[in-house]
Amino acid sequence: MSDAVLVTGGAGYIGSHVSKALADSGLTPVCYDTLEKGHEWAVRWGPLERGDIGDAARLDEVFARHKPRAIIHMAGYIEVGESVRQPERYMHNNATKSVVLIDAALRHGIEAFVFSSTCAVYGLPQTERLDEKHPIAPLSPYAESKAKVEVTLTGAAARGLRAASLRYFNAAGADAGGEIGEAHAPETHLLPLAADAVLGYGPPLTLLGDDYPTPDGSCVRDYIHVTDLADAHVRAIGWLRRQSGQGVHETFNVGSGSGYSVRQAVAETGRIAGKPVPHSVGPRRPGDSPRLVGDITKSRRELGWQPTRDLAVQIEDTLRWRRKMPR
Ligand SMILES: NC(=O)c1ccc[n+]([C@@H]2O[C@H](COP(=O)([O-])OP(=O)(O)OC[C@H]3O[C@@H](n4cnc5c(N)ncnc54)[C@H](O)[C@@H]3O)[C@@H](O)[C@H]2O)c1
Repeated sequence: MSDAVLVTGGAGYIGSHVSKALADSGLTPVCYDTLEKGHEWAVRWGPLERGDIGDAARLDEVFARHKPRAIIHMAGYIEVGESVRQPERYMHNNATKSVVLIDAALRHGIEAFVFSSTCAVYGLPQTERLDEKHPIAPLSPYAESKAKVEVTLTGAAARGLRAASLRYFNAAGADAGGEIGEAHAPETHLLPLAADAVLGYGPPLTLLGDDYPTPDGSCVRDYIHVTDLADAHVRAIGWLRRQSGQGVHETFNVGSGSGYSVRQAVAETGRIAGKPVPHSVGPRRPGDSPRLVGDITKSRRELGWQPTRDLAVQIEDTLRWRRKMPR
């Protein structure tokens, strides 16, 4: 039986780390990516098939060649700010094209479908820690596009698909082996921007708002090491395979369960780098929630998953990666 797993977006930041985790667990990641945003150098643990998730004929070809039994669907656009300016791009690439992929999964009898969702689907928090039952109220077209895919997966489960949506909190850090890491262009994530600012590779950091209703006015986020995040995908495939015959769609938070403000994360980066991160304060970014911190009880219980690398490790790995990454 095939041990292939189709990894859409496998040439990207999280996709490359998930591919490594799959290979470490004895599975073969087949990267399916347009390379519009990802990198060929990041595809190291299995074959690369160039293709778009919206291209049904190309998907059929790749299914016929590799016969994957599982799909991890990470392909998509990821910038909240851009999604506010160009919502149609996000609805088309992230939501509409995912419908094509989900149809292909049903057509080919895929036994496990794992989707990269986001904590941003929760919107404004009504509780200190968000569990999976918290109402969904996206604040940006990016988050809306992810919520739409979750709804589509619930429909597909009624037609027999076994699916898990992993609601990631803020992925951070880099693989300990030093071969892969975050290399977005443009980079919009806090830790790499702070690292570049303190290492002199980038401009001073701009904090996006300091008038949020939080203790120090900056947004509070839950940072999860990308290697811990990758491990959750392997466990989600195992969980889906253990579900009895009929379709299912479950959501799982994948975070650390701890919140840090942007100011705290920037101060910690400066402490670890040995000098303060140069920064200024700019306006809020539309679409951002003041606080997103996960309750990860369900993922611990159901997936047997446990985050093990704290914020300091994430920052150390980010600093090491930014010093050596291809630019
Ligand atoms: N980085 C985070 O903190 C975070 C948080 C929550 C959710 N997510 C989700 O995780 C996934 C991966 O994020 P990332 O940070 O690795 O992003 P990334 O941009 O590094 O990787 C995404 C990959 O998808 C590919 N892609 C985009 N559209 C495609 C299409 N139509 N067909 C085929 N390939 C396509 C890109 O070329 C890229 O390689 C995304 O779906 C993102 O929304 C990320």
